Amino acid sequence: MLTMNYLTVQIHKDNNAVSAEAARITQNYLIEVLHKKDEATILLATGDSQIKFLEILTNSREIDWSRINFFHLDEYLDIDREHPASFRTYLYEKVEKRIKAKSFHYLSGGSSEPLKECERYSKLLKRKQVDICFLGIGANGHLAFNEPQIKNFNDFDLVKITELDLNTRWSQVYQNHFESIDEVPKYALTVTIPMILSVNKILCLATGKNKAKITKIMLQENISSHCPSSFLREHSNAVLLLDRDSASLL
Ligand code: GLP
Repeated sequence: MLTMNYLTVQIHKDNNAVSAEAARITQNYLIEVLHKKDEATILLATGDSQIKFLEILTNSREIDWSRINFFHLDEYLDIDREHPASFRTYLYEKVEKRIKAKSFHYLSGGSSEPLKECERYSKLLKRKQVDICFLGIGANGHLAFNEPQIKNFNDFDLVKITELDLNTRWSQVYQNHFESIDEVPKYALTVTIPMILSVNKILCLATGKNKAKITKIMLQENISSHCPSSFLREHSNAVLLLDRDSASLL
């Protein structure tokens, strides 16, 4: 185990070990939170890094899911809710339909008034203190869809519209979520960095060789907007879970 500023970094054997440990930490934390209050709130991520973790977590019978509220980090703009690459579809399949939650709040990427959608979602988020947030890291260091080219992350808003980096759009094609670059939306809705940093606890999962370079930058270069995930080093209760491949350049 390492620490970088405030961030705890754990290195595990492989993605299965990372996922099992993330599920164990989450389960213990939610049980603790539910001892103290009636409900808990989770901010979910999507992406390949979350698949095994969410599978293990949603198999848990120790968590009283009927007391858990769910939000998520981001969604493409102008995407049909039924599109296989929509984060709504991903989260419905991997979380919502597997448990009986207290509430499940989706960002609507198909909204004809995206600014109003940001306001609606912000209002809902403001009503809850998020207890735990799950994250992955984009190959360019993005968190949710907070892209490095945006440069200024002192957002006042909790949710915003953002333009996607071309690298981000291409990675969706390489990961087979879309057939061609033209199909990948150019804009998205995302919770902002201040919103992410306001949650009580953060678990960030990054596995595989393709995350090795950015993990090194995130942990060893200055905390700055050129790598949005480096801001996690300023959070007092965040854990980054890596496997041997993503930690191979550290
Ligand atoms: C997408 C999502 C992010 C996610 C990231 C990491 O770009 N917008 O919220 O964290 O991918 O992806 P993966 O989990 O596949 O490494």
